[in-house]
Amino acid sequence: MKELYQQAFTYATEFIHMANHAAIQVSDQDRENLAHLDVPLAEQGMAASEVLHELHQWVSPATMKMGSPRFFGFVIGGAYPVSVASSWLGTAWDQNTGLEKTTPGVAMLEKVSARWMLELLGLPASSATAFVTGATVANFTALAAARNQVFARAGWDVEADGLIGAPDLHIIISAESHPTVYKSLAMLGLGRNRVTKVPTDDQGRMRVDQMPAIEGNTIIITQAGNINSGAFDPVGKICQLAAGKNAWVHVDGAFGLWAMASAKYRHLGSGLELADSWATDAHKWLNVPYDSGLAFVKNEHALKAAMAITASYLPTENAGRNPSDYTPELSRKARGVDVYAVLRYLGRSGVAELVERCCDCARYFAELLVQAGHEVLNDVVLNQVVVSFGDEAINLAILDAVQKEGTCWVGQTIWRDRLAMRISVCNWQTDRPAVEQSAQVIIGVAANLKQTP
Ligand SMILES: Cc1ncc(COP(=O)(O)O)c(C=O)c1O
Repeated sequence: MKELYQQAFTYATEFIHMANHAAIQVSDQDRENLAHLDVPLAEQGMAASEVLHELHQWVSPATMKMGSPRFFGFVIGGAYPVSVASSWLGTAWDQNTGLEKTTPGVAMLEKVSARWMLELLGLPASSATAFVTGATVANFTALAAARNQVFARAGWDVEADGLIGAPDLHIIISAESHPTVYKSLAMLGLGRNRVTKVPTDDQGRMRVDQMPAIEGNTIIITQAGNINSGAFDPVGKICQLAAGKNAWVHVDGAFGLWAMASAKYRHLGSGLELADSWATDAHKWLNVPYDSGLAFVKNEHALKAAMAITASYLPTENAGRNPSDYTPELSRKARGVDVYAVLRYLGRSGVAELVERCCDCARYFAELLVQAGHEVLNDVVLNQVVVSFGDEAINLAILDAVQKEGTCWVGQTIWRDRLAMRISVCNWQTDRPAVEQSAQVIIGVAANLKQTP
């Protein structure tokens, strides 16, 4: 066993080391080589060490180096070494993290890290926390709690009686909401289309003056961190409008919620603590491995009513915090291990420093691009930069060439009807030299392509 784990460790560390230096993009040849894996299921198995060798031989080279300090795509982070290591340990523990009584160690890690995060993000201390796969499921989980409570106040038990014949429910949502929020609504039986979209301003923030009247049973879905501009909806003001009504305000803060850990950026989410639920991803800005999303819900009862399972064979009595009372899954991995490890490693000041360094790097990126004559399309208030080099064709050509060049990886977006390059800075390793190196490549590629007729 030891030899096998040593082999995996050697491959993993080789990959992690190489990931910072090799081209980020997977080459065409390495993609083609993946065909070696596409074999019929053999009658006889093979030695474990050969299986590992095969994985490393073909998959490691065909793996996009998303953990690189110069990967700026998709608003995702990397993974701190402490969390990669804790994840290995957590895998060895192999805990079915449903019940406190059977998995006390990892249940404790979730309980403690949940408390830390509520403190760090300035959310109400009595809120309940669900450790889920990602922000999509965090939105789903929080909105399930919302659905429960808003209907319960209207005298309807949605868990018992479903949606057929239920009272009317209004859903007010930002016109800039992330597509996964619509998916959550669809999965909850609330429908993608039965929503009132609130127009946004030039940074993608919900316009309070365009909000419909909040009447009847209502769920309002806001955003902390627009995926393009990084801007926050005026959540505090929206909560004030919703106060005293049968309304639930949810905040999708997949990456942006972490800004609340920094005294310098917390003003962006002013009043956000007045909302009813919040979703975020630890696998984004907290830089832990996948899959690690979080839902925080002020009303613990509503979350448990939507999520808890009871069955006669489950030992729940006299238990402490049962992880499965808060999540869609019963059996799952111990996601809290990595969250605990990173928070313990960084402390409050470390999380604030991470957020502030990424935001500083984003501003620096924007400065370098503007100095080179390019147009930054958003106010760089957080970690997001949207840049245009001209018309759609030139932007596409530059994106393609930068990705192929391999020093850095940037994605494409449509911002205010314009195709543009989107740069998201949320990796724990990104620093000013990484930004300079990447900006130099982007500026060079743009100069070359703009010269070509
Ligand atoms: C604002 C927002 N909400 C939700 C999501 C979905 O997160 P996940 O992919 O972790 O499910 C994202 C992902 O980028 C996001 O940026």
